[in-house]
Amino acid sequence: MGRSSKDKRDIYYRLAKEEGWRARSAFKLLQLDHEFNLFTGVNRAVDLCAAPGSWSQVLSRKLRGREEKGEEEKGEEVKIVAVDLQAMAPLPGVTQIQGDITKVSTAQEIIRHFEGQTADLVVCDGAPDVTGLHDVDEYIQAQLLLAALNITTHVLKPGGTFVAKIFRGKDVTLLYSQLKIFFSGVTCAKPRSSRNSSIEAFVVCQNYSPPEGYIPNMSNPLLDHSYDVDFNQLEGPNRVIVPFLACGDLSAFDSDRTYPLQLDADKQYQYTPPTQPPISPPYQQACHLRKTNLLSREDAPSVCPDQSRDEPELPAEST
Ligand SMILES: C[S@@+](CC[C@H](N)C(=O)[O-])C[C@H]1O[C@@H](n2cnc3c(N)ncnc32)[C@H](O)[C@@H]1O
Repeated sequence: MGRSSKDKRDIYYRLAKEEGWRARSAFKLLQLDHEFNLFTGVNRAVDLCAAPGSWSQVLSRKLRGREEKGEEEKGEEVKIVAVDLQAMAPLPGVTQIQGDITKVSTAQEIIRHFEGQTADLVVCDGAPDVTGLHDVDEYIQAQLLLAALNITTHVLKPGGTFVAKIFRGKDVTLLYSQLKIFFSGVTCAKPRSSRNSSIEAFVVCQNYSPPEGYIPNMSNPLLDHSYDVDFNQLEGPNRVIVPFLACGDLSAFDSDRTYPLQLDADKQYQYTPPTQPPISPPYQQACHLRKTNLLSREDAPSVCPDQSRDEPELPAEST
């Protein structure tokens, strides 16, 4: 398979390289912003689970771009903090923390960077390494979302916005109800750049308003209910339904389609290498062992990706 074949099969992967984004996920945040105007009035933003950094690039271009044009809000300085377990190549204007979003020390470090102030916006594109066992993947993703919500309760200002990746699995109603405790507006949004074949969507939670007297607490994981079947279904009047919105311009590229390499009749296709390959990806060792023939056939990755993570591809029937 030629190196341009992924450019054909994944239009957003190709566009990301051509426009200088570190990952195709950048388009998801851009399309969410197009619908929800996420960046208006935002000076302090947190990007949770940020590596390799395309969402941080979007935040930087949007918030700093406004600063450069002299359009910053209330004369305040723009500050962006990005957190990930993995090391991330530096990005101008973005403070990076290599840390775990389930740790209170990470919340404290974020606040320290904001000099005691809280954030206007928290975004989280966090995803665990998927196993292919859908129930397990959905459960772990739900736990990561709750961890992101938990850390958000420490760092987000009242009235602020929280955006996070969610898997629309069978327990999603429970997650919506948990988010509704903290935000008056919760919408489930699916950007055009997120494949229809993927279970992934994004919750856009607006107007952070925790219950009166709520004290954020990382040592007691937030709302860690036991996931019993009856409670999760939240049927009848208890069922929480949140609006669902497909977003991104409808004339935008379809992420499930294969496009010809020559998109424009007057412009010849030219291969563009990835903007910033991950500096220390988890599959690095497996790739090395494969290249040196030290990996057994069954364990060998079929390809050693040249660009980092994307949303997990789960079969259509699980969406
Ligand atoms: C889909 S990638 C994020 C892509 C990123 N939004 C971008 O645009 O480049 C998911 C990230 O979640 C991170 N992650 C998973 N669990 C985490 C945790 N507990 N704390 C911090 N990061 C975590 C992974 O290391 C991975 O880099």
